[in-house]
Amino acid sequence: MGSTRARTPKNFVLDERLERYRDAIEYIPAAYAGNWAQACWPLDPHADSTSPRSFREVRLDLGCGKGSYLVAAAQAEPDALFIGIDMQPVCIAYASQRVIEAGIKNALLIPGSGEKLSHMFAPGELASITLNFPTPHPRKREAAQRLTTVEHLLDYRKLLAPGGTVVLRTDSEPLFDYSLPQFEGAGYTVQWTSHDTRADHPSIPMSEYEERLVEEGATVHGICARLDEEPSGQQLQAAREQSLNSLYDYIPEDLYEGAYIPHGMNFAITAFRNRRRNLEARNSRQ
Ligand SMILES: C[S@@+](CC[C@H](N)C(=O)[O-])C[C@H]1O[C@@H](n2cnc3c(N)ncnc32)[C@H](O)[C@@H]1O
Repeated sequence: MGSTRARTPKNFVLDERLERYRDAIEYIPAAYAGNWAQACWPLDPHADSTSPRSFREVRLDLGCGKGSYLVAAAQAEPDALFIGIDMQPVCIAYASQRVIEAGIKNALLIPGSGEKLSHMFAPGELASITLNFPTPHPRKREAAQRLTTVEHLLDYRKLLAPGGTVVLRTDSEPLFDYSLPQFEGAGYTVQWTSHDTRADHPSIPMSEYEERLVEEGATVHGICARLDEEPSGQQLQAAREQSLNSLYDYIPEDLYEGAYIPHGMNFAITAFRNRRRNLEARNSRQ
């Protein structure tokens, strides 16, 4: 598995692309906080007093990548507004191109980081947050950046409407195993879990990463968690203690021998296997 940086063809000029698809990009999201559903509703010259004036709800695709999931989800639910956020401008360029070329009016992109959501949305404004194949950040020292830490999940709580959901999908069983107690510790109720979301939830649109990683042999693990009551101090404390764990603590004893290795773990697994082989060789010589 290569890097998580989106690749671009030789003749790709980022600024030119961002300018060309600018109509699908919002650079000052704070201006719309609390008002996305109304402000983005397209003007209809034939509207009358009974016509809707706002999207039914707002859904966030956090770390949307190149936008194929965003566009397909928006096409499936035309009365909801879909907002994709990604920190890589090149992803925003591809995703905005997809939105414009699909001719849809219910999706847009925000370039930026998931760390700043409270500047972009008002409390209770989001019906759902989707995390498709979030960067796993397996090492302990980067654990705080995982989008499913209890601290991130507490941030999402403030922005979700009552009954709002967070859906995680990942090729990484270690990230799944790590995230499940984080959701519970942050006061979410798990609605479903799956170790093959394509089979169990076939209506969920494909993302680019799903397509690519499934071709490489991955199955997709998923968690859908619904906002519930505030967690107790005890629940929170347990989740915080676990939140900076390395994902290497969750890898199986056989080190994925003969099986698919989750995205971002190839290098470490090879190192672990070499270390084990060296140890075995040394032990057999004694
Ligand atoms: C592995 S890719 C998955 C892309 C897409 N969701 C998919 O499934 O095809 C992870 C994406 O999340 C973005 N990302 C990672 N951390 C982020 C953050 N804190 N805020 C916004 N985007 C982030 C990366 O730039 C990258 O495009």
